[in-house]
Amino acid sequence: MKRALAIMVGAALILLLATLTLVVMPYLQMSAEQVPPDLKPYTEQQQRGRQVYIANGCVYCHSQQPRDPSFAPGDKDRGWGRPSVPGDYAYDEPHLLGTMRTGPDLFNIGARQPSIDWQLMHLYNPRAIIKGSIMPSYPFLFRHVDEPAEGDKVVNIPPPYGPETGTIVATEDALALAEYMLALDHTYPAPTLPKKPPNSDEPKENRAP
Ligand code: HEC
Repeated sequence: MKRALAIMVGAALILLLATLTLVVMPYLQMSAEQVPPDLKPYTEQQQRGRQVYIANGCVYCHSQQPRDPSFAPGDKDRGWGRPSVPGDYAYDEPHLLGTMRTGPDLFNIGARQPSIDWQLMHLYNPRAIIKGSIMPSYPFLFRHVDEPAEGDKVVNIPPPYGPETGTIVATEDALALAEYMLALDHTYPAPTLPKKPPNSDEPKENRAP
């Protein structure tokens, strides 16, 4: 009987510790984070674009988290931007950090490729722009029409990637996804970059007491 009580108390303590470290502490830490003043909430169209991004598995090949140069110097060298901070994700629900980088990090793709025509053409067939690209094409996000109607967004695909006759026009989903790509621009200064403790680069002996 005594042992059963000890096991129950032990289990309760472990559960309490796990709740503190996995729920309470992160919550307290995150609630102190500021939303960067230059970060804009997504428009309805950009939110729809996020859904298309999720539905088409873009997140399996693309991350959205440039890392700190101290442990991943390559991220900055590739032009993926400053290391992201928690506040950058204030409007991301669910977040799309990603775990694989078969393709480049997209957290600042809107600053790197701000042309909607580029984004649409690349989506229709990445090889029309990047020779030998291994990214899948998404032609089902476009319509092949004889004559574009008024208001249709025409996408000019260079031969031999475009159709021989007729025109390619973007669907609402393709437009929303391209707008979402353009919205991925976190090049404003980070408000809460973790500060280095003073003298942290100096050997211990030289530090002020
Ligand atoms: C199988 C892996 C894979 C998937 C899935 C994938 N991509 Fe890519 N993506 C790549 C690779 C590889 C590149 C680099 C070559 C290129 O630009 O085409 C790339 C490049 C890009 C670029 C240009 C990046 C730059 O820095 O120039 C954009 C934008 C992009 N992808 C968006 C998307 C979107 C949106 C989706 C989902 C609809 C998607 N990708 C799905 C592999 C992938």
